[in-house]
Amino acid sequence: MSDSADVRFHAASGGRLAGRLRVPGDKSISHRAIMLGSLAEGTTEVIGFLEGADSLATLAAFRAMGVAIEGPSGGKLRIRGVGLHGLHAPADRLYLGNSGTSMRLLTGLLAGQSFDTSLTGDASLSGRPMRRVVEPLTRMGARIDATSAGTAPLLIHGGSRLGGIDYAMPVASAQVKSSLLLAGLYARGRTCITEPAPTRDHTERMLAGMGYPVQRDGSRVCVEGGGVLRGISLDIPADISSAAFFLVGATIAAESELVLEHVGMNPTRTGVIDILRRMGAAIEIGNRRDAGGEPVADLFVRSASLHGIEIPPGLVPLAIDEFPVVFIAAACAQGRTVLRGAQELRVKESDRIQVMADGLTALGVDATATPDGMIIEGGAIGAGRVHSHGDHRIAMAFSMAALRAQGDIEILDCANVATSFPDFVDLARTAGLSIATLQDATGAGLAAPCKQQFPMNNDTG
Ligand code: S3P
Repeated sequence: MSDSADVRFHAASGGRLAGRLRVPGDKSISHRAIMLGSLAEGTTEVIGFLEGADSLATLAAFRAMGVAIEGPSGGKLRIRGVGLHGLHAPADRLYLGNSGTSMRLLTGLLAGQSFDTSLTGDASLSGRPMRRVVEPLTRMGARIDATSAGTAPLLIHGGSRLGGIDYAMPVASAQVKSSLLLAGLYARGRTCITEPAPTRDHTERMLAGMGYPVQRDGSRVCVEGGGVLRGISLDIPADISSAAFFLVGATIAAESELVLEHVGMNPTRTGVIDILRRMGAAIEIGNRRDAGGEPVADLFVRSASLHGIEIPPGLVPLAIDEFPVVFIAAACAQGRTVLRGAQELRVKESDRIQVMADGLTALGVDATATPDGMIIEGGAIGAGRVHSHGDHRIAMAFSMAALRAQGDIEILDCANVATSFPDFVDLARTAGLSIATLQDATGAGLAAPCKQQFPMNNDTG
């Protein structure tokens, strides 16, 4: 995914969103399905798997370690689990592309193996902080080499005897928690993690669903090493983080009405709905049900006028991936929106505070980056060119901004949208966004957009 600079989006201003959509499967759950399905005894059948580059990187890593995986085909997979001790040394380094979840979770899991592994990634992943997992795993007895900056490539030495620890996480991170839980499956005794604020709990739910005992007590979660995972059937819900682009798009575009089907409603992920509703969004939740241990629902959203808010700090970890598009909502709201306590956004696939502030400013929005958040004065969104810095969620957020912009928006460096939402452009067009992908043969050219490539639907208001 490092050659992403040659893919651009051109989103024409105006339009409305309408219809029924099912966005692709949840990325976090897709990663965990591969990891835990591989470590289980017996077969795990999966439907709704995200065929995005990030989860496919995890899949390729487990194939390289000897796991037979059929698919994916139409989101279906069959994983022939090898048991906790059945993985084999990969022939080569494991390349994980842009995927922080793959790297952090695998680091914990691989710390318990008998063989050495090297993990590498693209330029963005190679700049992201890994000490947050290396340090507590080292306390458990793992031996992991990172760069002096605490970044990948990582060399994880096999054959370490791990012991359980009691760890209070300094940052609210589901990736750190999950990495330690996976190492904990291989450790002597109990591994307990206390989180400073609730973070997504898909690992705990899937472990329990596969019959592995997990003790939860408030903000503390513990596992004991030496258990067994059993293969199961998994129905992965649509990713609320992908649905979020359409929730905001349909809210800010006049005369819109959209149904988003089978969306994951895990309470550790629904912060975006709470934030948007506080801003005045009209989002209704219907048809609530359970899909293999994860709550799902259909979301009904229609256009609404938004007002600025102070985003409650408690909602930050529950909406951590949705801030790029929440900032677009804030730009369309009346008054000021303030986000604080979100310094983690600076170490995501890009520095999402700076990159969003720069893009919004380029579009004429009054946006001020702060060390741990953003202040946005709502108003008009202009037109122009913004840079996504290879960050999938920034590219998709600015695409939705075009629905309310005074002119067209061109977004640079968009290939990584395929990491989480490979058919974003097609689905967005089906819903009513006038968006086209433009590809430069050289990677450097910025030819004028071909207007005739996409249907203009400005007549719909
Ligand atoms: C994820 C956890 C979050 C999130 C990421 C996926 C996961 O990261 O931003 O996209 O699947 O566990 P942190 O746990 O580092 O906040």
